[in-house]
Amino acid sequence: MVALGSDHAGFPLKEAIKAHLEAEGIAYVDCGAYDTGSVDYPYQAKKACDRVVSGECEQAILCCGTGIGISMAANKIKGIRAACCTDYFSAKYTRLHNDANALCLGARVIGEGAALELVDVFLHTAFEGGRHQRRVDQLAELENL
Ligand code: RB5
Repeated sequence: MVALGSDHAGFPLKEAIKAHLEAEGIAYVDCGAYDTGSVDYPYQAKKACDRVVSGECEQAILCCGTGIGISMAANKIKGIRAACCTDYFSAKYTRLHNDANALCLGARVIGEGAALELVDVFLHTAFEGGRHQRRVDQLAELENL
């Protein structure tokens, strides 16, 4: 299950991702925004990330204007490893090496076609583990300092 979240700026891209996941038969839960009315990205990030932290969803996909604000918010939440990506390599390697569990996208930065490619590679790439596990564990340690 994938948790989808956005603010107003990310709403159109979130809707496109929803349609894409439906076409691919991938289950999701839409945590809002539900329209283009102005809404603040920090708590929009939390609504979707809470589903990941609870274990209901494996990953979150979060959209705002730049992808940056919502990634900053997501990374404040214990247990979330969010990556703001604009290119295929980063979306792939943040899964392979960082075990990222939230992909953040900027609706005003990248086009829909590119965004959907990033969604696909993010969702279909497994964490490599090995030496990367130690570093991911250290990320969790930082949350407790
Ligand atoms: C909203 O206008 C915009 O600031 C927000 O979507 C995001 O880009 C912030 O990082």
